[in-house]
Amino acid sequence: MPKPIIHFIGAGPGDPDLITVKGARLLKQADVVVYADSLIPIDLINHYVKPKTEIIPTADKSLAQILEILVDRAQSGKTVIRLHDGDPCLYGAIQEQMNGLLAAGIDFEIIPGVSAYQLAAAKLRVELTQPQQIQSIILTRVSGRTQVPATEELETMAAHQASLCLYLSARHVQKAQTKLLKHYPADTPVAICFRVGWKDERILVVPLTAMASTTDRENLIRTTMYVVSPALKAATVPTEYGTSHISKPTTTATSNLYAADYDRLFRRSHELKQRDFDD
Ligand SMILES: C[S@@+](CC[C@H](N)C(=O)[O-])C[C@H]1O[C@@H](n2cnc3c(N)ncnc32)[C@H](O)[C@@H]1O
Repeated sequence: MPKPIIHFIGAGPGDPDLITVKGARLLKQADVVVYADSLIPIDLINHYVKPKTEIIPTADKSLAQILEILVDRAQSGKTVIRLHDGDPCLYGAIQEQMNGLLAAGIDFEIIPGVSAYQLAAAKLRVELTQPQQIQSIILTRVSGRTQVPATEELETMAAHQASLCLYLSARHVQKAQTKLLKHYPADTPVAICFRVGWKDERILVVPLTAMASTTDRENLIRTTMYVVSPALKAATVPTEYGTSHISKPTTTATSNLYAADYDRLFRRSHELKQRDFDD
């Protein structure tokens, strides 16, 4: 019998086409899929698995119960998938599962997935890094039932005025808005991204001052991620909301990548080519 191994797979944000080729191949071979049912549509699993695959939701299970299932099925020689939404390394609570598996002598591998912020940026048709304006993306959450370390408080993060993707925060959106407003201008666009990649996906782009009121009014509480970014001023969002909330880009700066006078390893600048030629 082959050595037991659990495959942790990132399912992506919900769209079945956004799982990796490797993740999909393993799902097709799975005997058992243990999955986070509140965050992964069952359609995504049914799309790939063979008819007799055992599918086990975990929303009502404790860590000990999940570990017991994983260890039991792996030890009986089954191909076991632990399916997480988005990318497992981000708020996936996989560390304690991996520790438990190591303690039980079961090996594992991790197959990454597309995180919610990546699909949100794609739907918004925006580059979250903008030349001369934003060169960092912060992935974070606001303190709620789970406390964020003082050094990572939202207000501290907001001080960078980078592109900021806010997970797990819709229930504390008023608090988040207040902290963000300490540093971001009031008209900074915020994309409220509700269940991106799901059939009932909604994406609303509003000024920062309307972040909380819009979330509450539209009841976008469950599975919502926010993108707060001056870069959204350059976005052209093809949603039900059109482009009306989005003002003109604040920067027309372009990246050095395609600049004719920028020397790169695989494409030397015009000036250098000319000089070489003259020599
Ligand atoms: C436990 S975290 C897991 C994040 C996940 N590992 C990822 O990489 O996207 C769950 C939170 O991620 C965000 N999220 C996950 N899937 C989403 C989706 N399809 N649309 C919008 N937000 C999503 C929401 O903020 C949700 O509360």
